[in-house]
Amino acid sequence: MKKAIVQLLIVFAILYGLLHLFIILGPQEAAVKYAEADIEVPRAPADAKMVSNPLPKTPEVITQGKEIFHGKGSCYVCHGENGKGDGPAGLELNPRPRNFTNPRFHEIRTDGELFWVIKNGSANTRMISFVPSMITEEEAWAVIRYVRTLSVPNPPTASKLPGNS
Ligand code: HEC
Repeated sequence: MKKAIVQLLIVFAILYGLLHLFIILGPQEAAVKYAEADIEVPRAPADAKMVSNPLPKTPEVITQGKEIFHGKGSCYVCHGENGKGDGPAGLELNPRPRNFTNPRFHEIRTDGELFWVIKNGSANTRMISFVPSMITEEEAWAVIRYVRTLSVPNPPTASKLPGNS
């Protein structure tokens, strides 16, 4: 009888431990599942790299781009209010929307490459073509001017973003 109680206690202890292990490991699995695709792999063909932004980098153009990002273009829905890739519709996507706060993104991508993706989409991802269905070419160039202002030094890693905690 006593032995049965001890055995029962051991079983409970193991279950309790497993439960905690599950709670600790669960969110990490989610973070891995919904990671951004490798940033070092270009999304646009090489010749897109050479195309430069026809719009000047003025406060007016940046403001216009910001309005499109948060309005007509609905970019924020996936890319997030601050461009971290954590918008309400972005958290469920695999790969995750690009994190525009990452300085590395701005370092390795030209405006021409960004434009190509906004116009043609990124194959096998939920980044579809937005030009001309949602925004004009000119509006896309303005959005790019705004996206360039979202870079922050030492951005949070993907696992520290909301929804990945
Ligand atoms: C439905 C969700 C969704 C919306 C809305 C969306 N995007 Fe994206 N976007 C993505 C995803 C997912 C990726 C990652 C694609 C990849 O890894 O190749 C991405 C990637 C990008 C990239 C980077 C591609 C690269 O070179 O790495 C740019 C630039 C971009 N989006 C711009 C925009 C702009 C501008 C808008 C608004 C007009 C927008 N996106 C709206 C989901 C979205």
